[in-house]
Amino acid sequence: MIPPTEITLRRPDDWHCHLRDGAMMASVAPFTARRFARAIIMPNLLPVQATPISARQYRGRILDALPEGAQFTPLMTCYLTDRTDPDDVARGFEEGVFTAVKFYPADATTNSADGVTDIRKVYPVLERMQKIGMPLLIHGEVVGDVDIFDREAVFIDRVFTPLLGDFPGLKTVFEHITTSEAVDFVRASSGRVGATITAHHLMINRNAMFEGGIRPHRYCLPVAKREAHRRAVRAAAVSGEPCFFLGTDSAPHEITAKVSARGCAGIFTAPAALELYVQVFDEENALDRLEAFASLNGAAFYGLPVNEGALRLVRQEWTVPEKVEVAGTSGLHPFMAGRNLGWRLADG
Ligand code: DOR
Ligand code: ZN
Repeated sequence: MIPPTEITLRRPDDWHCHLRDGAMMASVAPFTARRFARAIIMPNLLPVQATPISARQYRGRILDALPEGAQFTPLMTCYLTDRTDPDDVARGFEEGVFTAVKFYPADATTNSADGVTDIRKVYPVLERMQKIGMPLLIHGEVVGDVDIFDREAVFIDRVFTPLLGDFPGLKTVFEHITTSEAVDFVRASSGRVGATITAHHLMINRNAMFEGGIRPHRYCLPVAKREAHRRAVRAAAVSGEPCFFLGTDSAPHEITAKVSARGCAGIFTAPAALELYVQVFDEENALDRLEAFASLNGAAFYGLPVNEGALRLVRQEWTVPEKVEVAGTSGLHPFMAGRNLGWRLADG
């Protein structure tokens, strides 16, 4: 078969994205809005986004930060804490402010100090969510003494499996999966558990963090795993199976916060987000399954309509920018900065 020189997709969605706030948001949101019709916006700001009122205000600030004419819908999430009120969550969902709730185990990652210290404490919230059909988005890593490369697999046994037993009707998304164990678990629970997959976890394994020296821009959580896991996650993404869908976890931190004695976790993929996935699907001869992964599976899982309209990409080299400026900061270093990619967005 002759390799295609262009592809047209139904407009895709990003089911996991960090836009931050203020000047940072003003710099990064246009990249996401250019590529995706909708994005699930993560609530781990300081202070965390935990009420319908603050989510409504945050949504307003995102819409104000978009370029003229952008057609982009931010889908807001509620940050789950030990003190979350089930009524607040249900009201936010019914009023269309919240699309989902995000569960960070306390201290698992960036701005997770207010996360859940013991899942049993939030059972009343989960009961309510199960009843109203509201999805729970899960950062699936245990904290504490467990080896950092095992935290996702251990989470499945210690937390996720019992959770499914206690809440058979709760819709859950296993966010940014990185291991073959997670792939197997999601497949076995397909229908009630979906999973997002990032572009960077499809492209790098854990060696990339130490290639010729420590590489802070390749550090994120969950941390990249060994090659066998990358291959398993890649096979899942390109399979077209309905339980796997696109979620970039684009997570900008300014350069001085990354290149530091204690560098922040997060990889900033937004400036090339879709193009990175296209490259992976092309390498795997699976371009015909990209639309399922990027534009159909996530919407179906969330019970939302698919987007109208199309996005065209062409096989043409371009260079990912070395740096993205953010007013008043040291700027952002995008994933694959300065490197050439083989696919670009048509028309700009
Ligand atoms: O690498 C990460 N960055 N993982 C997360 O879970 C949070 C995110 C962030 O907010 O920077
Ligand atoms: Zn994230």
